[in-house]
Amino acid sequence: MASKALLITILVAAAVAPALGVDYMVGDGDGWKLKVNYILWAAGKTFQVGDTLTFMYAPADDNVIQVSGPDFKDCKNSTALKGPYNSGNDKIALDTTGRRWYISGTQGHCEAGVKVVLSVEAAAPAPAPSSAPPAASLVWMAAAALSVVMAF
Ligand SMILES: *[C@@H]1O[C@H](CO)[C@@H](O)[C@H](O)[C@H]1NC(C)=O
Repeated sequence: MASKALLITILVAAAVAPALGVDYMVGDGDGWKLKVNYILWAAGKTFQVGDTLTFMYAPADDNVIQVSGPDFKDCKNSTALKGPYNSGNDKIALDTTGRRWYISGTQGHCEAGVKVVLSVEAAAPAPAPSSAPPAASLVWMAAAALSVVMAF
């Protein structure tokens, strides 16, 4: 029964814990390289302040440069807003709202599609446990606490 109590404790803790940022692996398992569609990758994702981008790639093949919108469009790598990053495992904190443009500086790669644009939104206020009104969630937590007591 102790395991049931532990499970309930974990559920309660998860319900009240503040939302943590999401770490997005750019390109998922493919990483950052030629022949990956980053428009598709970014589509439907919601990026928020507090999230992180990770760019994984072979440092011999690519790098990561944050550029302006026009430089993104033109694949111009000479006026970095930030970077170039070149560790091959770059973690970039999304710490401000707004649009961000990243390109690979390697000759021809940005033109071939190694570029990603995304919009960072303000972090949502810490969600209440479920979308239930506070009174209902108190009842729910009391019920959970009671279950814990009964488990012993
Ligand atoms: C920018 O592009 C040029 C030409 O392809 C290349 O030689 C240079 O290394 C690139 N710079 C960066 C920072 O990636």
